[in-house]
Amino acid sequence: MSAISGPEDGPVAVTGASGFIGSEVVTNLVAHGYNVRACVRDASREDKVSYLLELNDQGSGSVELYSCDLAKANDGSYDEAFAGCSAVFHVAANIGTDKSYGKNTPRDVYQGLLDATGGVLESCRKAGTVKRLIYTSSTAAVFGPREKGHYNTWRYENHVFTEDDWAGGSYETLEERHIITDDNGEEQHTWNIETQAYDKGKLDTEKMAYEYGAQHGIDVITVCPCHVLGPLKGKVHHVLWQRRLGLMLGGTTDFPPEGFSWNIIDTRDIAETQRLAATSDVAQNGSRYLMVAADESGEPTTDMVIDMLRELFPDIDIAGGYYPPRASHRLYAKCTKAIEELGLKPHDIKDTLRVTGETLIKHGCIEPEYKK
Ligand SMILES: NC(=O)c1ccc[n+]([C@@H]2O[C@H](COP(=O)([O-])OP(=O)(O)OC[C@H]3O[C@@H](n4cnc5c(N)ncnc54)[C@H](OP(=O)(O)O)[C@@H]3O)[C@@H](O)[C@H]2O)c1
Repeated sequence: MSAISGPEDGPVAVTGASGFIGSEVVTNLVAHGYNVRACVRDASREDKVSYLLELNDQGSGSVELYSCDLAKANDGSYDEAFAGCSAVFHVAANIGTDKSYGKNTPRDVYQGLLDATGGVLESCRKAGTVKRLIYTSSTAAVFGPREKGHYNTWRYENHVFTEDDWAGGSYETLEERHIITDDNGEEQHTWNIETQAYDKGKLDTEKMAYEYGAQHGIDVITVCPCHVLGPLKGKVHHVLWQRRLGLMLGGTTDFPPEGFSWNIIDTRDIAETQRLAATSDVAQNGSRYLMVAADESGEPTTDMVIDMLRELFPDIDIAGGYYPPRASHRLYAKCTKAIEELGLKPHDIKDTLRVTGETLIKHGCIEPEYKK
């Protein structure tokens, strides 16, 4: 297949359009003149669609809402939204961020990723017009899991991860690399759905999607984000890593005392990369792009994040007092491929931290701990 030329090729669809990343993808596309079909779980949720509809007054493109349920993706839930589209940006995943929809078992998480993406791909094929699907995977499919029972302990110390990594190494050695010996001296195969539902789900979904793309002439291109921060569009985005940043600004934390290693990317950079990937002549079926730090400033320990927040928000008493994690716990990976192949110009880490903090405060997600 080939790249799309741009908005002139027809409308595009974004799944998970209400979400933290998805809403930024819609924003970027509308700003660049695309007519976007924003696929949301429930179009009547004013708190999750108002910031999408407002885009109709801002960019040169437009937004139209479509109600589509991922859980019904195999029943053609996305058929109508994708009809006539040139590209689909598949961002949605039921990752449990909206507690009102209940809790997932590991099997739900795994199947939710794999089966739902299979249904989304089927709707692309049925449309007959979709040239590219840009899938939001995760560095979970690149870095792989932590060792069982050891929070923040990484299997490969000081490894610099790249797009060639499949859960921490080559795809061929995936299973054998995830065998550990437990405290009773017994071998445990840890690369399974029960213990690694999300990581395995993302990785298997990527592989399945590339194969489907090759069979049906649709380019499947993947972005793999790590710790995502950036502007929140509403209170509903007060989840995940941005919630943890909010805790620090509120004078508290739920991080383990031994600290934590970050590898930060801005939602605006993920959105830009996705649009660039849709029109790139270099990207092709099976291309992956790590969505991680631009340089080492984006690979901080929690202590470094706290120092940057103290500089950015001098009036706030940022929670702190951590020990840096061991060097072997650091997450080393850069988004060099997206910069070099697609021309991404990533935001500065301090800009990302600033806008995350400012929008957490603006939307009333947190009560900052102002200095007395
Ligand atoms: N944030 C990160 O740090 C991070 C890192 C790596 C990868 N990712 C990946 O990035 C993608 C977007 O995540 P996010 O951070 O933007 O989280 P998010 O804000 O929770 O977005 C998830 C989106 O998926 C939608 N969704 C969930 N279940 C659905 C269903 N049954 N039917 C239709 N839509 C459904 C949600 O819709 P509702 O608004 O209706 O709930 C929401 O729009 C996910 O694939 C996630 O795995 C995120």
